[in-house]
Amino acid sequence: MEKVFQFLKDAQTYYLATVEGDQPRVRPFGTVNVFEGKLYIQTGKSKDVSKQIQANPKVELCAFKDGTWLRVAGTLVRDDRIEAKANMLDAYPSLKGMYSAEDDNTEVLYFKDATATFSSFTSAPEVVKF
Ligand SMILES: Cc1cc2nc3c(=O)[nH]c(=O)nc-3n(C[C@H](O)[C@H](O)[C@H](O)COP(=O)(O)O)c2cc1C
Repeated sequence: MEKVFQFLKDAQTYYLATVEGDQPRVRPFGTVNVFEGKLYIQTGKSKDVSKQIQANPKVELCAFKDGTWLRVAGTLVRDDRIEAKANMLDAYPSLKGMYSAEDDNTEVLYFKDATATFSSFTSAPEVVKF
């Protein structure tokens, strides 16, 4: 899982797909954090992406770096604890202008039952489950 975290950090941007009914939705994301051994992302509860995740927590993300692409498919679980949000915001101080661990909007979610697949044109896929 550390390798997945490092890849996403280095790639800087990943694309997070949700579903809304029968319609896939995708957008750029950047936040990623490891807290208590779990891989977290951050968003705002007011966003459509958050509402889609609450309605259907199965998501997939994709990032690309140096000829390798990573896909992570899994289920996101909202963590309402202040300490989980504070840990995320400490990793992204620039977000503190918009979000705080105590507000009603900040949302952090961790991956459960995740399958991460590293792929490239030159080597066999590498699968990591966490
Ligand atoms: C490079 C980049 C990184 C972003 N990272 C995040 C992020 O980590 N969390 C987030 O909520 N929005 C992030 N955004 C903004 C979302 O892409 C934007 O709010 C999007 O519209 C949310 O999806 P939605 O409209 O389906 O709710 C990022 C945007 C860019 C361009």
